[in-house]
Order: sequence, then structure tokens, then C-alpha cells
Amino acid sequence: MSDVTSSRIEGFHKMDPAARLQAVARQAGLDNEAVAGLADAASGQIDLADRLVENAITSMAIPVGIATNMTVDGRDVLVPMATEESSVIAAVCNSAKRCRATGGFKTSTSGPVMAAQIQLLDASDPENVRLKVLERYDEIKAICDETDPLLLKFGGGFRELDIRVIDSAEGPMTIVHIVVDTRDAMGANAVNSMAEALAPKLEEWTGARSLLRILTNLADRRVARVRAVWPVEEIGGEQVRDDMLSAYYFADSDPYRAATHNKGIMNGISAVVLATGNDTRAIEAGAHAFAAKDGWYRSMSRWEKDADGNLVGILEMPMAVGLIGGATKIHPTAQANLKILGVKTADELARIIVSVGLAQNFGAMRALATTGIQKGHMALHAQNVALMVGATGDEIDKVAAELKALGKVRQDIAEEILARLRSGA
Ligand code: MEV
Repeated sequence: MSDVTSSRIEGFHKMDPAARLQAVARQAGLDNEAVAGLADAASGQIDLADRLVENAITSMAIPVGIATNMTVDGRDVLVPMATEESSVIAAVCNSAKRCRATGGFKTSTSGPVMAAQIQLLDASDPENVRLKVLERYDEIKAICDETDPLLLKFGGGFRELDIRVIDSAEGPMTIVHIVVDTRDAMGANAVNSMAEALAPKLEEWTGARSLLRILTNLADRRVARVRAVWPVEEIGGEQVRDDMLSAYYFADSDPYRAATHNKGIMNGISAVVLATGNDTRAIEAGAHAFAAKDGWYRSMSRWEKDADGNLVGILEMPMAVGLIGGATKIHPTAQANLKILGVKTADELARIIVSVGLAQNFGAMRALATTGIQKGHMALHAQNVALMVGATGDEIDKVAAELKALGKVRQDIAEEILARLRSGA
């Protein structure tokens, strides 16, 4: 617990980051070392942090590692992944290597199409409202396209009108979906602006009251799909393959297991989304909502056995990522990572991301169906525990090695080992 006495700091948002840090340090009782550590952590990017978020005081570095061995649609790619979790990147490298012989990952997409919703209320005749809106198709298209002429120039713009009358605890309401091709943008700004521009007109035409005007993260018109085949000998034999299928059927039938299985997929997905400065929460929300589209929460991936007995993995999910706008465009690390990926369009990026998700899922299922995951975690976990108990320099490897040899990666044991090393015993 910090010693913060009050959460009020007068004029905080107007201060520069260094002054904010000092103010927080005073309020929270941080010592000079802690303040210096926080200032250092921004590693020269405090101006960027200050531009990206409000009330910035520092940055927090997340490791970026490279997933090797990936072949996506016949092209070899090096994939930057930003994650704090050990074993995630290693799992992708290993899984990708095991399906290289069959050509790696094959993908397809549905196109960069996003939707925004406008909620229409207070109409006693919601079905009538629906028809009234549909009659205005041409005007709606014109309003949306005028809102974003640049998008139009790049070949995007309004595509479709989809109107639903939904039941709610408050009674029926009419929900207007504007469907927009957002090209290489994630599209949130584009569709939100269109929805806000359109809402007053919808009120005028229908007599209903508009309330929410916002994109849906259930981007089910912007899906990316991937499939890959793992030869049975690369898996470790027929028994392992069959056990992996049993692991999949477990996940697909039980939400408790599905949550963890899908978390594993998102370990890969979110790491690439973050590394490219895209919105991890948008992708996660869309992914989980899509996984529940059949009325219950199930596995995001599908697994089958082909005619030759090989294991086939399939992943299809919303993938609303962009190359322009937001942190992607202004964060130098995100820009460099996109360069490493060698992608020119948001569509190409989406294809790589789902491939990493599938590779991650293969790795987790294979580990779980064989040795369990703790073995793979052990080496890095042992190092983390050594760091946690205060080991420095050479001590880290020594403590970690002993923990591993004992097969017990525990903090209390690490403390004992460190004390012994330091006493020279
Ligand atoms: C750990 O971050 C991810 C796993 O739990 C995924 C899974 O259980 O499939 C290993």
C-alpha cells in the first residue's frame, strides 16, 4: 500500500510529466531512488507518452521478442511479439517450425469492414422506424461518405445498412448499423464520426431519439481466417494427436476450459496487436464475443484430423487492426515492428496475427496433452523467482539453476539458496 493521503492534486493534468512525477512522489511518499527509476523507465519517450495518454508520468517497457519459423501464405515472416509472459514466444517458434513442411499458415479475410451502431429510442413503432431508415439509404450513404472524404479517396466508405429491432428489458429498440469499409484504418474514428453525423438526421426522419452512437467491437464482418496442417510425426505420434483433439473437444464443450484455451490463443494475438500499436482491448472484446456467437462460449479454434491422419487447426475471428492512426502511426517501436513484419496493408497484418494465434494454441495444447506446461515454464520462471528474492548479477543464474535442479521453483527455497550463496557456505 502506498501512503497516498489524497487523490486530489491541483492542476495535475496541466503539469509536465516530470512535475507530475514529483507531485505523485510527494503524495505517495516515494523515495528518490523510486522516482529516478520511474523517470528512467520512460527511456527517452516521455514526450511520446505524454502525447498518447493523459496525466503521463512514465512509460512501462514490455519485452518485444521475435517469433521465428513463421510462413504465412508462402512468405516467411519474422513476427515481433510484445508480452511479459515467458514461454509465449518460444511456443510460437516451436509450433511454426513443426508445420513448415506442410507450407505453414494459409489465410483468408473477409475485408476491412467495420460497423457502428446508433441506438434509436422512444418510438412506439420500432419496426416502422426500421423501414423509415431503410428508405433513406442513399442519403445515409452520402452523409457517411461526406464525413470521411479521405477514406473514400483510398477506396473505402459506406457499404451497407443493417437495421435490427432488438428486445430489451425496456422494450424493443431499433438499432441502426452502418457498415463501412475502413481500408487500412482500424476504423473506430471513421465509423464513430459517421454515426455521430448521422444520428440527428435519423431523429429527424423517424421521430425517434438517438442515444448511443459507437462502433461495435464484435467486428464479425472483418474476420481473418487461418488453417495449418501439422504432420502426425511432428506432433509426437498418433496418441499425442488424439489427446490434442480431446483437449480441443474439452475446450469446445466447457466454458471453464474454453476461457483458458482461448486465453492461450490471445497470448499470441494480443502480443502482436500490442507490438504493432493496435488496440488489444478491441481485439479481445471482439474475439470473446465472436467465440460466444452460437449462444454459448466455446473454443475460438477448431481442430480436426485429415485423411492422412495429420492434425488440422483452424482459427477464424474478428481482427480489426489498422496501420494508420493512433499509436501504430506515432509509436516508433510499433513502426519498426511493422517494418520487421514487412506488411503493407492492415489485411496482411490481420492474416499474420491469426496465424500466431493458431500457432500459440497448437503449442499450448501439445504441451498440455504431453508434459504439461510447467516444464517449459521452469527455466524462465526460475529466473523470475531468483530476481524476486533479490538475486543480482551471477546470482540470478546460480539461484535459478539450483531451483531447476530441485524441480521446485519456490520463493522460500530461492531465499534460502541466495542466503547460502551470500554467506559463502
Ligand atoms: C497460459 O498463459 C496459457 C495456457 O493456459 C493456454 C491453455 O491452457 O490452453 C497454457
